[in-house]
Amino acid sequence: MTGIDRSAAPDVLAKSAPDPVPALLLGRLAVDRRYAGLGVGTALALHVLATAVELNEKAACRAVIVTALGQTARTWWERLGFHPFDPQQPDELDLYLLTSEIDATLRRAR
Ligand SMILES: CC(C)(COP(=O)(O)OP(=O)(O)OC[C@H]1O[C@@H](n2cnc3c(N)ncnc32)[C@H](O)[C@@H]1OP(=O)(O)O)[C@@H](O)C(=O)NCCC(=O)NCCS
Repeated sequence: MTGIDRSAAPDVLAKSAPDPVPALLLGRLAVDRRYAGLGVGTALALHVLATAVELNEKAACRAVIVTALGQTARTWWERLGFHPFDPQQPDELDLYLLTSEIDATLRRAR
């Protein structure tokens, strides 16, 4: 778990949230190159998203956040619905997905 400084959070994340905003930090995710493109990374990420929904029911988890490794990884996260913290920054790698958006991502993935 992590906390996001409300003053640094996008409005949609900060609105009616405590300070710091409770979130789940996905610190590191990688798939062995020999098994790339088989859906393992997506399955792992979806498992983390489902965990965030559970955490939100038991305590509070407003969003899942991740720092993409680079622009290619950012595109990969955006496929799952993640948004850049600062959309004005073209090279922004800090991303978030609201817990309230996770259902839609899970439905799209099925
Ligand atoms: C990003 C990563 C985790 C993806 O894992 P994976 O198991 O290969 O991914 P999946 O097989 O689940 O990918 C599914 C889809 O994403 C696409 N995809 C895979 N890697 C991608 C990438 N780097 N950028 C954009 N799309 C990508 C695939 O083409 C596939 O699309 P399709 O379903 O339309 O065919 C893996 O490439 C990796 O370990 N990268 C290095 C570390 C990294 O960048 N980690 C994430 C940053 S925190």
